[in-house]
Amino acid sequence: MSFTILGTGSAEPSLCKTNDDLAKVMDTSDEWIRSRTGIEKRRLCGEETVTDLACEAAEHAMEDAGVTARDLDLILCATVTGDYITPSMACLVQERLGASCPAFDVNAACAGFLYALDVADGYFARDRVKRVLVIGAEAISKIADWEDRSTAVIFADGAGAVVLGEGGDLLAARLTTRGNHGALYAENVKGNCPFRSNGTKAENVSETSDSDGREIKKARENYLYMDGQEVFRFAVASMIRDLKQIMKEAGLSCGDVTYVMPHQANRRIIDFAASKLDIADEKFLVNIDQRGNTSAAAIPILLDETRRKGMLKKGDVLLFTSFGAGLTTAACAVRWGRE
Ligand code: UT7
Repeated sequence: MSFTILGTGSAEPSLCKTNDDLAKVMDTSDEWIRSRTGIEKRRLCGEETVTDLACEAAEHAMEDAGVTARDLDLILCATVTGDYITPSMACLVQERLGASCPAFDVNAACAGFLYALDVADGYFARDRVKRVLVIGAEAISKIADWEDRSTAVIFADGAGAVVLGEGGDLLAARLTTRGNHGALYAENVKGNCPFRSNGTKAENVSETSDSDGREIKKARENYLYMDGQEVFRFAVASMIRDLKQIMKEAGLSCGDVTYVMPHQANRRIIDFAASKLDIADEKFLVNIDQRGNTSAAAIPILLDETRRKGMLKKGDVLLFTSFGAGLTTAACAVRWGRE
């Protein structure tokens, strides 16, 4: 027993910013962003919070699945940008929806939504739940360093959600972690404890090199730092490896795959991975041109958009693959069980 996807939903923030809009506030250009990332525009939060987006996506998914908040046995939120350090975003969503089930967050960065699906699978396997709400929601614009043009231009905000029910549609799942805190990170607040020597001033990182021996660059206090090229190399290698592995574990040939829904981090990463696999290029779905990189929200948003376009039919085989800070990777094969 694993699960089946009963419904999907997503939510878009109110601001839509083109590459030309970004070029007005930093030294960049539409040509650079399009050619290096494939992004044309992205959605960013205005007055709304990431919790608002998570709740809206959840409501759409519950409506699609025909379930109410009272039917939920567990709420999982994948996020690194919740509005509070505590309580978790999942608790805020539970309160807002009027649900009464346990709720907690999963932090595996951009791979968080797939990690959360794997956590949910365990609850189904132990027969503890019948309906689980899994949300990926991020407002990376809150932690992006808008003075670092190589990072700020790729990230965006949004939320996607699924409602899971009992079923046998998770065909295989694979999670990996290669601990490395220097390639992609944002530090938490340091606080003002008077008994610490750096109690009022954040000491961004104490180490000077990461587990691979590379120099760790210091982020500006509490902002996101990314070594783009290192993450790029890691992403390409892991996406190819994980997709091959997941197909092997699920006993799938390339021809069995209906769509690959990869993390929307950079169009060039997706194109390169596609070129190294025997899966037809057009099966790799992309919306990064319109949405940017929404981290843990990227895959559930893409899934919801694909479903709402009427592109999914019962029995379709979907491969999800993601990677992110950690460094984490995750992939899974899911059969689409709805008409
Ligand atoms: O979802 C989380 C995981 N994240 C990722 O998967 C991101 C992976 N990495 C990437 O997507 C790419 O590394 C980036 C899009 C972030 C950067 O692209 P890149 O091709 O690796 O560029 P770069 O950082 O090596 O910079 C190349 C040049 C530099 O100029 P010089 O030194 O060659 O003169 C940069 O200063 O491009 C310059 N540059 C820019 N120019 C205009 C960097 N960012 C920009 C920019 N606009 N926004």
